[in-house]
Amino acid sequence: MRGLSWLLGFVATCQLACWAQAADMGSLDSTEPLRVGLLRDGNFPFSQPAQTSVPANHAGLEGFEVDLMDALCEAAEINCTAVPLATLDERISGVANGTLDFTISALSYTPGREAVVHFIRPFYYESGVALFGSDQAGLDLFGPDAPTQQALEAASGWGGLFTGSFLAGQTLCAVEGYYALPFILKEASDTVRGGGCAAFMYDSVTPVSEVALQVLNAPPAYESPYGVGISLEDKGSELEQRLVYAMTGLMNQGNSSRILELEQQWLVPNGIGPSSALQDVVTAISTFGSQPSGPGESQVPQSYSLFGTRQTGR
Ligand SMILES: *[C@@H]1O[C@H](CO)[C@@H](O)[C@H](O)[C@H]1NC(C)=O
Ligand SMILES: *[C@@H]1O[C@H](CO)[C@@H](O)[C@H](O)[C@H]1NC(C)=O
Ligand SMILES: *[C@@H]1O[C@H](CO)[C@@H](O)[C@H](O)[C@H]1NC(C)=O
Repeated sequence: MRGLSWLLGFVATCQLACWAQAADMGSLDSTEPLRVGLLRDGNFPFSQPAQTSVPANHAGLEGFEVDLMDALCEAAEINCTAVPLATLDERISGVANGTLDFTISALSYTPGREAVVHFIRPFYYESGVALFGSDQAGLDLFGPDAPTQQALEAASGWGGLFTGSFLAGQTLCAVEGYYALPFILKEASDTVRGGGCAAFMYDSVTPVSEVALQVLNAPPAYESPYGVGISLEDKGSELEQRLVYAMTGLMNQGNSSRILELEQQWLVPNGIGPSSALQDVVTAISTFGSQPSGPGESQVPQSYSLFGTRQTGR
C-alpha cells in the first residue's frame, strides 16, 4: 500500500505512466481491495484450499490465517482479497516488490527477513521445534527414572537434552540440514513407530494428522513468532497503524479475544496449540500483566477509598 508516498511522488516526479501503476495498487480508501499473500500449499490448517464455498475475497482458501485476514481487515476498515501463493519465496518477494500489499503466511521472524520486509507488532502466533513420538517412546525418552510430566515440562524443555539436564540414552532424530522438510514426514513417522528413533524433532505447528505421532508434552525449543509482513516502504504508514490497531483489538478481550477463538476453531482441533505465548500476549494486552477477573475486566478495583469517602463502582 503506497497511497500516501505515491501521492507525494506524483507531485514531484511522476508522469502519466504512474496512473497505470497506481490504479492496480489498491489503496486504503479506494474500493480496490488490498492484496494479501496467503500460502495455498503446505500450510494446513493456517491456509489451504477450501472444502466448502467461501467468500470471493478468500480466493478459494480457508484456514486460521484466512479468517485472521478478514478479522484484521474489518477492524482496520480496509477491503482485502487473498492472493494464493504457490511457494514460500513469494511471501517476501511479493511484499518487497509491491505485488502484495501485505502477507499473513506463517512468516516467522528473523532479523534477516526484517531487513527485507517489515513485521508488524504484535506478532500473532509462533512456531518452534517440537518432539513427536509414539506414546511409549515418549515416556521412555527422558530415562526410566525421570518423573515424566515434571521432566518434560521443565523450564529448559527438551532443549535440556543438549545441556545434559535429562537422562537420555535414547535416539532423537532430526532431518539433516533443515529440520522441517515436509517430504520426510512419512519416513520419519515410520521410523519412530518402528522404534528406530525415540522421538523426532519437527515443526511444532504440524497437524497431528500429517505426522501420525503424538506431540510430546514438552515446550517447543527455538521458537520464533509469526508476523504480518508489509513492505519496508510502508513501515510507519497508515496501513501499518491500522493493522497494529486491528491486531491489538483481536487480542484485548482476555480469554474472549477473537484470535483465541480462531485458534480454537482452526488449530486446536488439528493438534496445534493452544499456544502459551499467545495466551501470555493476550493476557498482557488485556490486563497489563495480570489475569483479568472476566472478559474486558482489568485490575481496576471495584471500590476504593478517596479522601476518606467510600466510592463504589467504576
Ligand atoms: C470496500 O468495497 C466495497 C465494494 O465492494 C465498497 O462499497 C466499500 O466502500 C469499500 N470499503 C473501503 C473501506 O474501501
Ligand atoms: C514480484 O514477486 C512475485 C512473487 O515472487 C513475482 O511473481 C513477480 O513476478 C514479481 N514482480 C516483479 C515486477 O518483480
Ligand atoms: C484464560 O484461559 C487460560 C487458559 O485456559 C486460563 O489458564 C486462565 O485462567 C483463563 N483466564 C481467565 C480470566 O479466565
